[in-house]
Amino acid sequence: MTINIKALSQDDLLAATRVCKIAFSAQLGISNPDLFNAGASLGARLALEPNGNYGAFDEEQLVGSIFSANWGSVGYFGPLTVLPEYWGQGIAQKLLEPVMGNFAAGGTTCQGLFTFSNSPKHIALYQKFGFYPRFLTAIMSKSVTSAIASNNDVVTYSSLGPQRQIECLEGLSAICDDLYVGLDLSKEVLTLESLRCGETVLLLEGESPVGFAVCHFGPGSEAENGGCYLKFAAVKRGDDAARHFRELIQRVDHLIGTVNVSKIVAGINLARQGAYESLLALHFRPFTYGVLMQRPNVAAYDRPDCFVIDDWR
Ligand SMILES: CC(C)(COP(=O)(O)OP(=O)(O)OC[C@H]1O[C@@H](n2cnc3c(N)ncnc32)[C@H](O)[C@@H]1OP(=O)(O)O)[C@@H](O)C(=O)NCCC(=O)NCCS
Repeated sequence: MTINIKALSQDDLLAATRVCKIAFSAQLGISNPDLFNAGASLGARLALEPNGNYGAFDEEQLVGSIFSANWGSVGYFGPLTVLPEYWGQGIAQKLLEPVMGNFAAGGTTCQGLFTFSNSPKHIALYQKFGFYPRFLTAIMSKSVTSAIASNNDVVTYSSLGPQRQIECLEGLSAICDDLYVGLDLSKEVLTLESLRCGETVLLLEGESPVGFAVCHFGPGSEAENGGCYLKFAAVKRGDDAARHFRELIQRVDHLIGTVNVSKIVAGINLARQGAYESLLALHFRPFTYGVLMQRPNVAAYDRPDCFVIDDWR
């Protein structure tokens, strides 16, 4: 059997989605693959990093795929999936190779992934590439009550004029760079804006952003049906960080209450203790855990002073 690794294109999206559903359903014991991540689109991932995604082909058939993204100095990958009948034949390792090459070429200083903390296979696979298991990431959710929803106080990136958007992006990059040098989420904000599959919620002090939250929801987004996937959120580091974080998440809650979405899902690394405790206080509850694996084995922005949400599933 010869497996060829090729860049993924839009034409492969349906097949890649199918492989992803079948592989994770086999892993998790879900009998109907259609129920896995129902409604979540991989199209936004393809749009985010058009040259960071690869497929494994057995002749013309797509049998595995990997998605990856560079957030400035930080690179992460996932989902990585292979059809169950092809497991254990080195295909995942073949898919990882070009992504590792892209991370090196793109100048990332920290790379990582989220995986099953209870799977010796997964952890061993990624350790071969130098990734080391660190803190758990809690995947948390919170129901949204539309009855109390009001979005009067919510400012979004899409509501700003062109010049303000440019200034705002600079402000968001500065917040991220202060958390981890070179970390830059502009790509996520701009992709969401161009695909119109969610909103970036802003927390402003005067005219300056002190926090932002990239929220996927609706058709074409990375969120499951009826949910908001809070892909990334961060506030400016400093004495006001805890308060700003609470205010930011409350604004997300208010916005989401107005858009026909019933729950918010957010992943948070438990090394960010203050942020985790804030989410608990805001009635988020963990429904599953995974482990962050990272190289090099350093804290990066997984520190108690970093009020950050991200989810590398
Ligand atoms: C995880 C997944 C992508 C791996 O794909 P794969 O093509 O089977 O992986 P590979 O064959 O390239 O590598 C697996 C390696 O783990 C090793 N391994 C398997 N079980 C192991 C165990 N219990 N302990 C240690 N190593 C183990 C294998 O021996 C192999 O290494 P080798 O080639 O040196 O022998 C695939 O199982 C999958 O799609 N799973 C469902 C979706 C998923 O979990 N994705 C990953 C989410 S982070």
